[in-house]
Amino acid sequence: MKDPKISRRDALKIMGAACATTLLAGCGVATASEPETPLEPLQKKYKRLILFFTATGNSLYIARELAGEGGTLLSIAQETHRENPVYEADEIGIVCPIFCFIPPTIVQEFIKKATFHAQYLFCIGTYGANSTIFPEYTQKLCKEHGKEMNYINTIRMVDNYLPYYDMNQQKAEDKHIPEQLAEVKAAINSRTNFIRPVSEQEKGFCEGYYRHSGRDRVNPTFTRSEKIFFTTDACIGCSVCQSVCPHESWSVVDGKGKPEGDCETCFACVHNCPSKAISIIPTPPEPEEPNRNARYRNPNVKLGDIIQANSQRKF
Ligand SMILES: Cc1cc2nc3c(=O)[nH]c(=O)nc-3n(C[C@H](O)[C@H](O)[C@H](O)COP(=O)(O)O)c2cc1C
Repeated sequence: MKDPKISRRDALKIMGAACATTLLAGCGVATASEPETPLEPLQKKYKRLILFFTATGNSLYIARELAGEGGTLLSIAQETHRENPVYEADEIGIVCPIFCFIPPTIVQEFIKKATFHAQYLFCIGTYGANSTIFPEYTQKLCKEHGKEMNYINTIRMVDNYLPYYDMNQQKAEDKHIPEQLAEVKAAINSRTNFIRPVSEQEKGFCEGYYRHSGRDRVNPTFTRSEKIFFTTDACIGCSVCQSVCPHESWSVVDGKGKPEGDCETCFACVHNCPSKAISIIPTPPEPEEPNRNARYRNPNVKLGDIIQANSQRKF
């Protein structure tokens, strides 16, 4: 069934509600939403600190669950603006989506420049189909930048990669998230040392993908937003795309969303567009989107939470 086109007025109402959610900070994310003003000074010492990146909420949901009552969440899309970020906590974790088997560029860059003082360090990658080399790659990256990870694991959730998957089918599939989450939670709570091993078969799969796709092996998805997105006639210029983009690489020109600038290919803009008015320019050998009318946001996460986490705008 085709979704009815929403009016500009309704979309602005959604935006208003989203901003209100942001101000109420209902999700407990301690982010600074105005990077042009100085970021809040970091608290001296946190109990459990989780730094996360998210586009459609899977990683934010996991980050929240792992933070629990006494934990603190900080958004990497905001924290990345600190020149010399130093964090002190009993336990520090990173939660992010897996992009082409490795952490997104914004997360890799953050790992390189951040300093962590903690007794226990962990990293969780959320993914949809194949996590392959993520644990090994992340462990190596961290080691090269002075961080010894105690625990790296992955959690399989909805795969939001639109060129390959129909979101309706993904949403219908039971990926046993509660069971995976319970296992990871228990391991972290007991400070287990474990890096999920990567099999030779997984390495081979990954190698084949990179060779076939021709993607860069360090920054496989970092690109320019104008190269991969276009807006359809359904666009009503509500500017949600601009608000959820971690690089603010969208603007509204003549009442329509216009992509231009650095892009993680995180798809926050496409999935969170209230009018489903953003689509992807197919880049061979990638196929065309199987279902342009199906979009995804984790059911436990609101649009306002994504805005709060990623927005580079002033409201
Ligand atoms: C550009 C891109 C690349 C992706 N690459 C992979 C991948 O290599 N393996 C995989 O299983 N899922 C992949 N996914 C799916 C996401 O990792 C997964 O849906 C993740 O949970 C999304 O997290 P988020 O909701 O916090 O943004 C990719 C998604 C995107 C947008």
